[in-house]
Amino acid sequence: MPDLRFDGKVAVVTGAGHGLGRSHALLLAERGAKVVVNDLGGALDGSGASTGPAGEVADLIGKNGGEAVASADNVATPEGAQAVVQAAIDAFGRVDIVVNNAGILRDRSLGKMTVEEFDAVLAVHVRGSFLVTRAAFPHMKEQAYGRVVNTSSPAGLFGNFGQVNYSTAKMGLVGMTKSVAIEGARANIKANAIAPIAWTRMTESLFPAEFEDKLTPGRISPLVAFLAHESCEASGEVFSVGGGRVARVFVAEGPGWRTDDLTIEAIHDNWDAIMVEEPHLPTKLGEQATASMTAML
Ligand code: NAI
Repeated sequence: MPDLRFDGKVAVVTGAGHGLGRSHALLLAERGAKVVVNDLGGALDGSGASTGPAGEVADLIGKNGGEAVASADNVATPEGAQAVVQAAIDAFGRVDIVVNNAGILRDRSLGKMTVEEFDAVLAVHVRGSFLVTRAAFPHMKEQAYGRVVNTSSPAGLFGNFGQVNYSTAKMGLVGMTKSVAIEGARANIKANAIAPIAWTRMTESLFPAEFEDKLTPGRISPLVAFLAHESCEASGEVFSVGGGRVARVFVAEGPGWRTDDLTIEAIHDNWDAIMVEEPHLPTKLGEQATASMTAML
């Protein structure tokens, strides 16, 4: 297999000053993409800002022989998101790839979580991904080509203590990915999501030290690059990835149970049938709705 390359393609990677985004940007640039390295340059909780991290990664790409520009814009604001995409248009004349990776944490148990902590996390992950994708979408439609990679999390797919805000945001990105995939299909715009596990400043206090050189960002970025490549046919999919393992994640529905006379007691009495695990995988709302309708015929 020859190297999969990105010559002539322009990528925007948000939150690329540290951790996973930095690794994605370096790999895409190494394979020939021109890259907008975006990072607000703040702390893990989203406070503060600095042009340093984005500038350092863009400089490193230049030193390695690639092409990159830095953007310290805040993706959570409409102006900031627009500016990130405009940076790609101004510097390189197009945008082919959007990797929505920027993220923050404001962990707190549900009873103690403030509205500000909830809103701040949704603003970066959900609103930021929506805004950057929305800004790039007209360019992608016009050129009938685009690749969007969103960053979900196992915490969103499966739940986690102290992360009601973050889990909500990360499952929200699954819905966003599936709907963008449907809206982009006619223009050859594919959207997929990853749910990574990697050793970064976000997780270094969670994982045992022996995993530092195993759960590396370098063992996440090849999947992001594959999903961003023109040869990728998948769209609307979610993949968990960590330590070199990649797995498809399904949103599935059981065969279900129905009656013409649905009562509270009937649900109680038929609970085992409702809970049967024989997965069916609807790929859009219409397919799921059809299952409910055909069960009536
Ligand atoms: P990180 O903290 O090293 O990187 C996140 C980057 O996003 C930082 O450089 C930060 O400055 C930037 N950022 C934050 N708010 C921003 C904003 N409003 N505008 C622009 N940039 C902003 O953390 P890491 O681990 O590399 O996280 C990357 C993504 O992967 C995040 O979305 C995170 O939620 C997700 N993730 C990471 C996991 C892990 O195991 N490391 C697990 C699951 C998801």
